Amino acid sequence: MSAPVPSQPREETFIEEMKRYLHLGENDAILLKRLLPRLEKHLPEMAERFYAQIPHHPGASRVFTGGQAQVVRLKSTLQAWGRGLFNGVYDEHYADDRFQIGFRHVRIALDQKYVISAMGVVRSFLQEKMFDEFPNRKERLAYSQALSKILDLDLNLMCDSYFRATMAHLQTLNQELAQAGLQLAEANAIKDEFLAQVSHDLRTPLNSILSFTKLVLDGLCISPEEEKEVLRDVFSSGQLLLRLVNDLLDISSIEAGKLALQLEELDPRAVLDSTLPLVAVQAASRNLRLVDETLEQQLPLVRGDEIRFRQVLLNLLSNAVKFTPSGGVAIRATVDHAQGFLRIEIEDTGIGIPADKRDSVFEKFVRHDPAALSGITGSGLGLAIAKRLVEMMHGKIGLEGGSKGNGSIAWFTLPLASHAQPPEARPA
Ligand code: HEM
Repeated sequence: MSAPVPSQPREETFIEEMKRYLHLGENDAILLKRLLPRLEKHLPEMAERFYAQIPHHPGASRVFTGGQAQVVRLKSTLQAWGRGLFNGVYDEHYADDRFQIGFRHVRIALDQKYVISAMGVVRSFLQEKMFDEFPNRKERLAYSQALSKILDLDLNLMCDSYFRATMAHLQTLNQELAQAGLQLAEANAIKDEFLAQVSHDLRTPLNSILSFTKLVLDGLCISPEEEKEVLRDVFSSGQLLLRLVNDLLDISSIEAGKLALQLEELDPRAVLDSTLPLVAVQAASRNLRLVDETLEQQLPLVRGDEIRFRQVLLNLLSNAVKFTPSGGVAIRATVDHAQGFLRIEIEDTGIGIPADKRDSVFEKFVRHDPAALSGITGSGLGLAIAKRLVEMMHGKIGLEGGSKGNGSIAWFTLPLASHAQPPEARPA
């Protein structure tokens, strides 16, 4: 005969543990059942006494949002709760019912101390009534003890729901914290990689400047033409360096909330006309077509900061030129009078950006695929700066796939002057 498998000792539930601790047994259950007809008539007064405390609760108006009607309803639910004390069955179902009541109080963020005190009010009221009901001291004592035990059990069940709700809340906070930790680590890794790249980007033109200058100073150029050529390289390296430093300064002042914009009525035609020639040279040097499709259009006035508008435009245009090995760059504009904005879009026939990466290019420190960028220089902050600037001018910015299946379309919007909010110089 095989030996019986020893059964795992079952873990005691909370209500079983409390009943054992309080010595709440069958006899008490019988006494409590008998108590109901004696105490039932006092339950309305108990509810009155209970709710007389309410005006003293500091957050009464926050907790009792339903006004008088809610209090009337709660008075009858409190009586139902009182009747439940004497039903003689204190099992898991009872525990769950009490837990739900406790949990309702946790949900309305009622401090546990008020529940404990309210239970004290109920307790002293019911014990007071015991004197009227049982003038005989001995008889009263047995009933009183049973009543005390069930009130203790209920109080513990209420407190347990507070404890469980707190634990659940802590667990959620912990999960959020762990998630935030992961995001922070990821952001740090991106930042580290970016810093390493930027240091390299700063060092490259600086090295050129130093070594070319030394070449000239040491008289190592073989002709004045060569000397001029070398100095031209020094000059363009200096320009690149300045652009990188400017980008870094811009993003840090935007992040610090120190960049103030001068929002005013602007003529986009004037901004386009003064910006396009700056990129035209760059485009021509790479044999790219630069087409301004807005020339035939009447562009409405917008509201923005002129310098920053030009900066965004220049940034998107030079990005388009930079990432387009052949073909061209087109600039067009559409006006949405209903929504009240001007949309400027710049389409290129360049290397394009996969759909799933288009949002992330506007995040700071994120660069496009480095392999595709070999030989292309920049801080990688241009688009992040453009996004912040456009948003500070109450516009939107985005990137889409090109209309002919290759390249990309970078676009941004600015509010029409006729629709815009009142002028303001808003810090970031
Ligand atoms: C021994 C202490 C308490 C008991 C036995 C008790 C009992 C109850 C009961 C039975 C309900 C109805 C729950 C339901 O519908 O499921 C309830 C709800 C409520 N109680 Fe208490 N209560 C106590 C303490 C308090 C205190 C101190 C306050 C405020 C100062 C309070 C405010 C409320 C409110 C605002 C609701 C409505 C919650 C909701 O709508 O979800 N309770 N209470």
